[in-house]
Amino acid sequence: MLKNTLVIAGPASLDLAKSISKNLNVKFIEPELIVFSDGESKIRIPPVDKKHCIIVQSLYPPIDRHIIQLLMIIHKCRRENASKITVIIPYMAYARQDKMFLEGEIISISVLAELIQNFGTTDMITVDIHNEHSLSYFSITIKNISAIPILAEYIKNNKAIDIEKSIVVSPDEGGTKRAEKIAELLNLQILCLKKTRDRKTGLVSVDENLGLVVEGMDAILIDDMISTGGSIVKASELLKKHKIRNIIVLCTHAILLDNAFEKIMNAGVQEIISTNSIPNICAKVDLAPILSNVVVNTN
Ligand code: R5P
Repeated sequence: MLKNTLVIAGPASLDLAKSISKNLNVKFIEPELIVFSDGESKIRIPPVDKKHCIIVQSLYPPIDRHIIQLLMIIHKCRRENASKITVIIPYMAYARQDKMFLEGEIISISVLAELIQNFGTTDMITVDIHNEHSLSYFSITIKNISAIPILAEYIKNNKAIDIEKSIVVSPDEGGTKRAEKIAELLNLQILCLKKTRDRKTGLVSVDENLGLVVEGMDAILIDDMISTGGSIVKASELLKKHKIRNIIVLCTHAILLDNAFEKIMNAGVQEIISTNSIPNICAKVDLAPILSNVVVNTN
C-alpha cells in the first residue's frame, strides 16, 4: 500500500477515481459538490494535509467547468501543504489546439498547461493525448499512457467481427501511428483515409478513393476521440460504399456530443467501444488498472 496517499475524485471522474483508489488500496475522498444556478461550482473536501494527493478529473464537457473544479482541488491541496500533487487527467481537453492554425489563434493547450502546473501540480498522468506536441507546453513530469493495448485485448474477443478478415482503418492520416500500433498487435493490415477539415467551418470531407479493395472485409475503425461523430460517420459511410461488411469503432475518448451515438449507429456501425476516460454507454474498457500501475511505478 502507498503510504500517506489519498485519491481525490474530481466531480467528473467519481467512478474511475474510486477504482483507482481500490487498486492502490488507499483512502478515497469524494468531494461534496454544489453547482449553483449561475454555473459556479462549490466543492467541499476534508483536510488533506501533507499527504500525497492523487486527483482524478477528466476534462470532458462541460470542459471549462471541469477545468475550474480541477484547479480548485489542486489549490486546496497546495494550500494544505500536500507533499506531492499528482493529477490524473484521463481525457485532456484543448489538445487539438496545440498550435496556431490561423493567424491570431490562441494556443489553448498552452494556457491550460500553465494553469495546471502553476497551481502546484507536481506530476501529471494522461491517456492518449490528441497530439504529443501538446506535452511540450508543460514543464512538470508527464506520463501519457496509451490505451491501445487494452483496446486491442478487448477487441480480440469481439464476436461482431471476424478478426482474421478485418482491416484497421484510421479516419485520417493524423491517426496513422495509432492505427499501425493496433494493427501490429492484432496482426492486421491498415488503411488510412484522407480526411480534410475546413479550419473555419469545421466541416469534414474524405477522399472517396481508398486505393484498396475492402469488399467483404470487416473494419476496426480507430480514432483517439469521438466528439460530434462527424469523422466516424464520414468514414463509415465511405467504407459501406466500398462494401465493407461490419464495422466496429474503437476510441479512447468517447465524448459523443448530442446525438453522435445514434448518427454513428445509423451509419452502419455494429458497436462503439471506448475506455472509461469519459463516463458513457460505450465505456467498456477500464483504465483504472493501467492508471494505477503508472502511479505505483512512478512513486
Ligand atoms: C481529429 O483529428 C481527431 O482525431 C478526431 O478524429 C476528431 O476530433 C473527432 O471529432 P468529431 O467526432 O467531431 O469528428
